[in-house]
This record gives sequence, structure tokens and C-alpha cells, in this order.
Amino acid sequence: MAATNTEVWQLGTVVQAAEVATDIRRIVLEPSLPKKAEPGSHIDVKITVGGETQKRSYSVLETNEDGSRLVISVFKVPASRGGSIFMHTLQPGDMLEITQPLQNFPLRVGASRYVLLAGGIGVTAITDMARVLRNLKANYTFVYVARNRAAMAYWSELQELHGENLVLHVDEESGILDVPGIVAGVDSDTELYMCGPIRLMDAVRRAWLERELSVPNLRYETFGNSGWYNPEDFLVRIPRLGIEANVPQGRSMLEALEDAGVDMMSDCRKGECGLCEVRVLQLDGALDHRDVFYSPRQQKAAEKMCCCVSRAVAPGTSSLPDNGHTRGPAVVTIDVA
Ligand code: FES
Repeated sequence: MAATNTEVWQLGTVVQAAEVATDIRRIVLEPSLPKKAEPGSHIDVKITVGGETQKRSYSVLETNEDGSRLVISVFKVPASRGGSIFMHTLQPGDMLEITQPLQNFPLRVGASRYVLLAGGIGVTAITDMARVLRNLKANYTFVYVARNRAAMAYWSELQELHGENLVLHVDEESGILDVPGIVAGVDSDTELYMCGPIRLMDAVRRAWLERELSVPNLRYETFGNSGWYNPEDFLVRIPRLGIEANVPQGRSMLEALEDAGVDMMSDCRKGECGLCEVRVLQLDGALDHRDVFYSPRQQKAAEKMCCCVSRAVAPGTSSLPDNGHTRGPAVVTIDVA
């Protein structure tokens, strides 16, 4: 699912910005080179924080016919390296470097039934799909899950628009979502589109494979910042190149290696394409695989990792068992292609 679109950079002017849920800001942009955004599109945004230019991807939540207005929503990431905090400071009149809408999560029209599953801020990738399916009078169920209502952007608007097709699930009110139950209600012709935290998507993937449903009928969009454990600082070493680099909480291993002068391959930077793969030679700690590229078996083997998103966590922290090795940061010894 790597992006295959050509990036056309342009200026986007902020025309509205407001908080719509806890830590979620809705931002309306007017691009200088409008292009209609199809459902599942995203834009890339360049932001400069602390003198460093970063690129971030945001799903297009809404657009108009000619694409002269693009709506995104930004979640303020707790361990942000500054990008989402910067986006939360934007005010009308500010300008940003943005791409035209890019597509790597297309909606296939014509399936006999759809299930759309959005977890938290993942609703931004799903909302426009749901609107299109509603307009097409398609057979669809839109499941929207969040930990509480305060963290659930747009739920009342969505309820009004989708009525009985929308299933709202609030963890603090109803407990954990019954993922196997959702997948059990899917038939072989149903397509399921999902975007949300890695735990949710992993649970769906496992239930999907257990039922031996068609793999192409399961489609997803990832966020490269969602993991099994809280991010923490760790060390990466490449003995062959004499490199040792610290990977701070708010940066990826890929970025830390690039900063250290290592020539790295990458494309999606979202854990989807596998191009940034590194071989793990030794590990003091545990890997927090955040990709969707490897199978669960490959992830468990801990022999390779997608360094654009995956991290390491120390034993004795982050709910991992303390094996008595160390209380310091995790250390990953790797080699690169
Ligand atoms: S760059 Fe695509 S998985 Fe890392």
C-alpha cells in the first residue's frame, strides 16, 4: 500500500481552525492548486520544528467538488516530536506547504456489503468513504470506536448522517470492542476498510485470517505512530559501520540513522512497504513492531524490523517483564542493506 502518487507541493492557507474533541483540531485549508480529493486520500504537510523540516500525512476528512477546500483533523500526539503540537497552533491566515491529495487507500465501489471501522483519529480516513457509500445507497456499517466520548470527534454529526448504519462504541461505557464478533458477521463478499490504533487493526487482521476471509477484501490505512508500548529512548548500533545513535522518544530509528549519516532506503515511512527493513543482530530489550508489513510470525521472530516506525523498549519498563538485564535503555544492534 505504498503511495504511488506524484507529490505536487503547493501552498495551503488555513481558513478555519478549531478544537473538535480532546486534543483533536479541525483545520480547513485552501490549496493554491486545488484538486478534488477522492475518499481515502491524504495530504502531506511540511513543517519546520526546531530548525528541522518534517513531513506529516493527514487524511482528508472532507472536501468540496473542485478541491478548493480541504479539511483535515490533527490529533495532538502525547509523545509528539513537535509536529502535531505545531499543527495545533495554526490559526486562520497561516500558510503551509502541502501536497495535492494523494491516494493510497482507495474505496472500491461495487461491493455487495461494506464494514468501515474507525478507531480514534482513524475516523478521518473513514468519514469520506462513509459519506460516499451513503450517497450511493450502499449496504454498509460504520463502526466508530474511541476510549471516551470526549475523545470522539464528529460523533454527533456522523450519527445524524448515518443513522442506524453507524455503530458508536465507547470503551469506557461498553468495555473493549468485540472484534471477533464484528468479523464473524462478515460474509465472503464483504469488504472491510479500517484505520485506527495498531492493536485494533492487528485484532481485526487476526480474526480475518482465522476466518480465512479474502485478504484483498481487508483494506487499511496506518498511522506510523501507534505502537504496543509507549515510545521510549533507545540505542541503535551498527558495528559494521562503527555507528551508535540514540533514538529519542520523538524520533524514529530511521531518522536517527539518517542523522548519523547512514544511507537508508525508505518510501512510505508508515510501516507499509518494508523498504526501510534492517536486520536485527542482537537485542537488549524487546521490539515494538509498529508496521503492517510483516506477518505476526515474522514479527515474533524479531530478526528484522521496519525502522521507520518500529522501536525498541527496555525490559522492566512498558509492561515488559524484567529479565534482570538492565534498567537502562534498550539496545538494538542491527545491520542495514
Ligand atoms: S519506509 Fe516503508 S515500511 Fe518503512
